[in-house]
Amino acid sequence: MFEKIKRLKNISDINKFQLQMHKADLKNSIQRRLLLRLFLAGLLIAIVLSSAVFLIEFQRLGRLVTGRASEIVSSFNDQIRHMLDARELTSDSGLQQELKMLLIAGKSRQWMGQLVYSSIYDLKGKEIATEIDTQYAQMAAVEDLVQSFTHRLPNNSESEHKFKRIKGVPYIQLTFPLTNSIGEHVAVIEGVFAVSASARDEVLGRIMRSVFGAIGIVTLTTLILYPVIITLIKQLSALTEDLLKSNIETLRVIGSAIAKRDSDTDRHNYRVTIYSVTLAETVGLKPNLIQCLIKGAFLHDVGKIGVSDEILLKPGKLSESEFEEMKRHVRHGLDIVKRSEWLKDATDVVGYHHEKFSGEGYPYGLRGSKIPVNARIFAIADAFDALISSRHYKKPISFDKVMDILTEGRGNHFDPFYLDNFKTIAQSLYDAFSACSEQKLYKKMESIIQKYFSKEYRFEKVTKAPD
Ligand SMILES: [Fe+2]
Repeated sequence: MFEKIKRLKNISDINKFQLQMHKADLKNSIQRRLLLRLFLAGLLIAIVLSSAVFLIEFQRLGRLVTGRASEIVSSFNDQIRHMLDARELTSDSGLQQELKMLLIAGKSRQWMGQLVYSSIYDLKGKEIATEIDTQYAQMAAVEDLVQSFTHRLPNNSESEHKFKRIKGVPYIQLTFPLTNSIGEHVAVIEGVFAVSASARDEVLGRIMRSVFGAIGIVTLTTLILYPVIITLIKQLSALTEDLLKSNIETLRVIGSAIAKRDSDTDRHNYRVTIYSVTLAETVGLKPNLIQCLIKGAFLHDVGKIGVSDEILLKPGKLSESEFEEMKRHVRHGLDIVKRSEWLKDATDVVGYHHEKFSGEGYPYGLRGSKIPVNARIFAIADAFDALISSRHYKKPISFDKVMDILTEGRGNHFDPFYLDNFKTIAQSLYDAFSACSEQKLYKKMESIIQKYFSKEYRFEKVTKAPD
């Protein structure tokens, strides 16, 4: 980049190059933000989808296991029904042996998992038979789960199942009622079903397939939508650019029309805008307020269109009645800018640039911080330029004398804070712009407009000004 800057012949080329770089940065910034948002949207969709798939798959596994367990228990109940006809169930009724067979048979045909613990209780909670798979490696981990059994019929007298996860292994806690030959609920069988690694892998596989599927769909959608969105953004950007150009042209035309009434050039408008913006930047005013300041500085005397030539162009001092007529340009200006939504931002400067910090200004006689910040800033820039420049009714005054006059107005005409800051930049502004050609001032104005009406700041909402 530095090599390219070296090759550029003059300031104009450098300005154009910087502008191109600025536009390229903005374009890249929009594309980066768009990509980031599409990526985050994809990630969010993948997370939501995988969570949903996880829940659905585990519920499905639960239904499969409990369905299978119901079939096994139902079949087991058929085998032992005659044993449950006894008036009182005892531990030597043969149920222990049957229960052992149930666990052994379950192990040999399991694919989703295995029954690692099972117990039969009568309806009073007395243990009739209990069988544990002693070969199951993690039996110790299941003991707490076993302790939580209530040995009671399930509430709906059908079955109950709960998922538990212990040391990363999912278990299903099962409770089923057992009936005798005449269909009476006489006992409860409880069990712990350990979900097998193959079943877990299958669920995990489904989840991964869903997640990668979701990511694939989102990526594909992004690839399809991205160029479409970029094209639409470019079209919208071009339309916005055209609208902004029209608005800025309107600003220039109106400002220029007023300048032509009492001057041959736009130089005063350009200079006061440059001075005001430089002071605003020096005190760190927010960009959206500087936008308003630019509009206001350009249109500050727009209301002079309603003042007669006899008064506006009078070479000598104005009479009292003529001055009263001249003062009306502020209210005329407010009437004009308030008619346009875009020009309305100029109100603070147009309506209050003749107020004084002491409260002795016009038209409202506002005092101190009641005067809008932009008007307090502009009043200094306007007075500085008026004193420095020649007018049809006065000759230019020297820089030192102008600074003395401004200092005399510190605290009565001008806000001390902004005046003190202006004094730190006044000499450099004077050297750079007081005798500058209209063309150079125009270029400086262009760079200010490009900076503050670029995409970066354009959509900022106007915030409350500091006091
Ligand atoms: Fe004015």
